[in-house]
Amino acid sequence: MNGPTASRPLWMDGHMAPVPDEIDAVDLPVTGALPAELAGRYFRNGPNPRPGEETRHWFSGHGMVHGIRLRGGRAEWYRNRWVRTRQFTHGAQLVGAGFEVDRAAVTANTHVIPFNEKIYALIEVGFPYELTPELDTVGPCDFGGRLTSAMTAHPKEDPRTGELLFFGYGFVPPYLTYHRLSADGELVESREIDVPGGTMMHDFAITENHVVWLDLPLVFDLELVERGLMPYRWDDGYGARLGVMPRDPERAGEVRWFDIDPCYVFHVGNAHEDEAGRVVLDAARYTPGDFDKVWATTGGLPAHETVTVASVQGVARLHRWTLDPSGGKVAEEALDDRGVEFPRHDDARTGLEHRYLYTVTGDSIVKYDLRSGSSAEHAPGPGLIPGEAAFVPAEGARGEDEGWLMSIVTDTSGDGSELLVLDASDLSRVASVRLPRRVPAGFHGSWIPDAR
Ligand SMILES: [Fe+2]
Repeated sequence: MNGPTASRPLWMDGHMAPVPDEIDAVDLPVTGALPAELAGRYFRNGPNPRPGEETRHWFSGHGMVHGIRLRGGRAEWYRNRWVRTRQFTHGAQLVGAGFEVDRAAVTANTHVIPFNEKIYALIEVGFPYELTPELDTVGPCDFGGRLTSAMTAHPKEDPRTGELLFFGYGFVPPYLTYHRLSADGELVESREIDVPGGTMMHDFAITENHVVWLDLPLVFDLELVERGLMPYRWDDGYGARLGVMPRDPERAGEVRWFDIDPCYVFHVGNAHEDEAGRVVLDAARYTPGDFDKVWATTGGLPAHETVTVASVQGVARLHRWTLDPSGGKVAEEALDDRGVEFPRHDDARTGLEHRYLYTVTGDSIVKYDLRSGSSAEHAPGPGLIPGEAAFVPAEGARGEDEGWLMSIVTDTSGDGSELLVLDASDLSRVASVRLPRRVPAGFHGSWIPDAR
């Protein structure tokens, strides 16, 4: 791969470099056999500055969604579109000169999800943007004016109730607000949560009866805003804690906090309640030292002006916390020593006990069997970097791993990409779809099945 240069940061070069335009292609070449029952779209979001723009942090580029349409064993089309946010179309800024906040002035670059027959592009600092199935932008959504905070890029759909649980965080009070959308898309509950300060809270977890908060020491710093930098920095003095909050609105004020060893978590795998009523949380955990490296190499302080490494440094490892709300005790254990990110699971298990998690290393897709303690890897090949692997259940699946994994694989030579489809049960290659261009390494995606 082309390494970053003194003038170009890591995320503007090589397999992470943005693409300059929007294209369409039809009848894509397929190697192997795409399962005929895969009828839908795989959409994946990520930052993609426009030509001539150079962002100060990897997280700052305009959102671009890459989509592949599968049906009847064919890959019917690929297209990529920038999300037409008010920042993209009008240059509007989230925080104006008078500190007024425009939550539609975002990049919408982090995730793309289906919910209640709509599709949303998400970023944690503002409102979601609705997209059409053809990737056109409908516009920002504040759920009929009821959403008064930002919305995380990692909401959780409860598979039992069909509700969408999420939160918004901010740099002024209220620092944290919990929200609940009914299954038919109405914002029916919002609760302010008391936390000591404004932190970057990228993800959270749910169980059948609880919400789990990660209040970790990446704190907002106004001085960094004034310097034009990503305004969050590590603060040893903030501490680190996990919070267990009953979902029951009648118990809104009850959050049980557990102090933990300092760390950072971008991504939760899943959480559940065990037979003893304890909350078990699995997530990709960075030690303070690893976090410092990954933050610096993606553009945060302290090293953003001295990025000279050839790849993102600093790894997260799969970790488990077990929280006992009755006894107030927390236990934690490392589940593996490999560096992994982007944990996913069968969405039908969100908040419930899961056996499998799917993650990626720098060059492979890893499947964890948490019941047996074993794991398996699939490496797409030399120089090929797999993105997040989304689990797609087979129709009528009974086994938790009965289905496929979908991942956009980017060639570090800068030449191309493919949509890789693996059998989730044994990680064997089922098919790959050759994409007509390099898709830059990005963030999160979803399989959006056709309505049945
Ligand atoms: Fe994320």
